[in-house]
Amino acid sequence: MATLLREQVTGVHHWTDRLFSFKTTRNPGFRFENGHFTMIGLEREGKPLLRAYSMASANYEDELEFFSIKVPDGPLTSTLQNIQVGDELLVNSKATGTLVLDNLLPGKNLYLIATGTGLAPFMSIIRDPAIYERFDRVILAHGCRFASELAYQDTITRELPQHEYLGEEISDKLLYYPTVTREPFRNTGRLTDLLVSGKLPADLGLEKIDPASDRFMICGSPSMLKDMTTLLHERGFNESRHGDAAHYVIERAFVES
Ligand code: A2P
Repeated sequence: MATLLREQVTGVHHWTDRLFSFKTTRNPGFRFENGHFTMIGLEREGKPLLRAYSMASANYEDELEFFSIKVPDGPLTSTLQNIQVGDELLVNSKATGTLVLDNLLPGKNLYLIATGTGLAPFMSIIRDPAIYERFDRVILAHGCRFASELAYQDTITRELPQHEYLGEEISDKLLYYPTVTREPFRNTGRLTDLLVSGKLPADLGLEKIDPASDRFMICGSPSMLKDMTTLLHERGFNESRHGDAAHYVIERAFVES
């Protein structure tokens, strides 16, 4: 039975005026797989106001972390963006989601494709030792409008390669590809276009994408999900549905929220 857990905010970080992250305590009974989401929120007028959020922390960590947009008139985020250390956060005890390793067939390269806050589940997944056992290369590709929105760059490029247990695997296998669409940056353009042209894999020293070797996890804006589906389908990749393992998985939980 799902219950609403009451956690305490332990840290808040504002990346930009549109993006922030926060950490909370974690009930030891709250279990999830890396890549899962749950419903979280605040109590408003005695009632829970909840939205789907991916855990950005790994499932073996003591605290939970979430990555959120700030919508000025958004029912939840207009208030949530003001949370402070010590405030209460409601967390539904039942986590779920499609971005899990067992939904993918074995392969060589695992592409994690995110736009905006779609990065969150992948911050959990890149800390999962199992992905480094199953894949030779893990490519974390994050697309944003502006460079300031490329959250967690420091964690990905500096902290994780020093990780106590996973540092060596991460240094060997994790390739990070940030790209920006609305100002100059070292990589520019939409992730979809960079995959179609072959520039993204080529920049990382990889072959063009191929269903024989490549697997995808995708999370982000609805229009990106749609275009990625078309792109992969046209190239012979099949989506995992109903729990059967296939070439790619998409998290659609956030589409309507
Ligand atoms: P663009 O600036 O060309 O619209 P958003 O903030 O709107 O969610 O967008 C986040 C990032 O996702 C932006 O870089 C945006 O590029 C990109 N994006 C939006 N739609 C698509 C799409 N259909 N395919 C690939 N990338 C997309």
